Amino acid sequence: MPKLIICGRGGCGKSTLITLMAQKIEEQGKKVLIVDSDESNLGLSAMVGIESPEKTLMNYLGGRPILDGKLMEVFLNGGIEQLDLFSETSLDKLPSEFVSWNGNKGFMQIGKIEHNNEGCACPMGVVGNDFLNKLILNQNEWVLIDTEAGVEHFGRGTVEEVDAVIMVVDPSNDAVLLSEKISKLSNDAGKPFGIVLNRVDDETKVILEDAISKKKISIMGAIPYSKTMARENLVGNRLDNNMVEGNVGEILKNLEN
Ligand SMILES: Nc1ncnc2c1ncn2[C@@H]1O[C@H](COP(=O)(O)OP(=O)(O)O)[C@@H](O)[C@H]1O
Ligand SMILES: [Mg+2]
Repeated sequence: MPKLIICGRGGCGKSTLITLMAQKIEEQGKKVLIVDSDESNLGLSAMVGIESPEKTLMNYLGGRPILDGKLMEVFLNGGIEQLDLFSETSLDKLPSEFVSWNGNKGFMQIGKIEHNNEGCACPMGVVGNDFLNKLILNQNEWVLIDTEAGVEHFGRGTVEEVDAVIMVVDPSNDAVLLSEKISKLSNDAGKPFGIVLNRVDDETKVILEDAISKKKISIMGAIPYSKTMARENLVGNRLDNNMVEGNVGEILKNLEN
């Protein structure tokens, strides 16, 4: 079953969409792992209603100083292809130190920038890619990868490890412009690509549909603005599909077809 990466500009609703999709997947009796690969934002755990695990994946592997040393050694001795931080693994074998489960919904974080001047986020990218590469899914298992804003995950090669790319487009010209770029990058990577509109009303939905269909990009669904969801997120409560009128189940169905 699929590993999906969810991308888009900052604040467009990536984490919100992941939260709503994960809830639907679990309701269908399937297992879903949410992988937080955004090095900055901290709110996904509250959105999905699962406590952050004791350790990020980076910290589980020893933390940045140790990993920086390991990665340097790998680069000096033959390059990234030699990297072997993990062996093949599956959802039921993941250590509870870095994955928290609530029913059939798991949550983990690749790593966060924690210290001033600690260095760039490249090690998180390398570690996350190797982990995703070694994670083998059974039928009825999904992985949803939340990303930082923009297109960094293409540059880092994370998109190579997934089955499809979903972009969230909010009502902004920036998002429309970015959709063309991400569509092209996904195409270059050989990955299926689709868009979910978010935070739309009747008027902005039509404008976005028009702008995006002109680019010949497929729209998989739309999530309307929900005052309830905005408020619940603001106060740090978990999100629920009941808070929004859009049909996230339809988006999943489109993905399965
Ligand atoms: N459909 C929606 N209706 C109302 N508010 C939304 C909706 N989608 C996202 N938001 C709000 O927009 C903000 C950014 O959403 P978030 O999912 O954190 O974006 P991202 O992960 O892309 O940065 C949050 O305050 C969130 O509650
Ligand atoms: Mg986010």
